[in-house]
Amino acid sequence: MSLKTAMETVLVVGATGNIGVSAVTAALRSKRNVLAIVRNQASAAKLVKYVGSAEGITFVEADVLSDSGVKGVIDQVRAGKLPSFQHVYSCVGGGYVTTTLQEITTGQLRSNFKVSFEANFFAYRDSIGYLLEQSNSASTWTICTGSQGELATRPMPAMTQGALFPMTIAAARDNEFTNVRFNELYLGFRVEVDEVAVQNGTTKASDFGKVYELILANPEVRSSRVRVETLEDIEKLRYQKKF
Ligand SMILES: NC(=O)c1ccc[n+]([C@@H]2O[C@H](COP(=O)([O-])OP(=O)(O)OC[C@H]3O[C@@H](n4cnc5c(N)ncnc54)[C@H](OP(=O)(O)O)[C@@H]3O)[C@@H](O)[C@H]2O)c1
Repeated sequence: MSLKTAMETVLVVGATGNIGVSAVTAALRSKRNVLAIVRNQASAAKLVKYVGSAEGITFVEADVLSDSGVKGVIDQVRAGKLPSFQHVYSCVGGGYVTTTLQEITTGQLRSNFKVSFEANFFAYRDSIGYLLEQSNSASTWTICTGSQGELATRPMPAMTQGALFPMTIAAARDNEFTNVRFNELYLGFRVEVDEVAVQNGTTKASDFGKVYELILANPEVRSSRVRVETLEDIEKLRYQKKF
């Protein structure tokens, strides 16, 4: 088997955002390839700019907000048109707004749930079956949530994050004894792509990526919440079974 075919691939949903860039960086640093779902070529170019190179990344355009977006990508993988993957990382979202409950319009409520909850739900629902079928004991499925889901100092992202929590418990239960290590990465501070992080004094995506590398490398992290609440948590995983 050639080195190329032996390499693992990570499917990243939400690849072009702050957290997505950290996941792509981590995958490439750990000698894995990336299958990045992007909404258009401008987003793909943004990812290449932040990561520094397109080497090791296969791009596929899809609308991850549609209930057939991720499914269509998986169909292409099954058909051999896109590379097979062994890991999934989902981090669609954004909208880190401070809008108060009273000010949130119906349109904002629905669009935020569509982007920050539904898209991650579709990503799980429509990719986990593929990983289970492959029976690869090294497989993982990881999602990034945030402490806003409990703090609620920013109500809109808080509500969409909060809605993800039970989804991650259910997925952790469903995969307790499967070939897929499902984990929730629970982030308690702001991470941004490197050049923005430097400007804002927040944590760089490239540094935060170490957490994903540690999750990928540690078979004991399974059905767990991995808490990243201090900078020390980036260097040493703090995790606990979710149930
Ligand atoms: N960043 C943090 O510090 C932090 C902390 C805790 C939790 N989280 C959670 O992690 C998730 C990602 O956060 P982030 O900071 O990485 O967000 P982000 O930088 O805004 O990126 C979000 C990703 O979702 C995609 N996306 C957003 N709206 C979309 C739409 N309408 N159609 C298609 N794709 C869309 C973006 O694509 P484009 O690039 O094409 O826009 C991007 O790939 C969120 O759920 C957030 O709550 C983040």
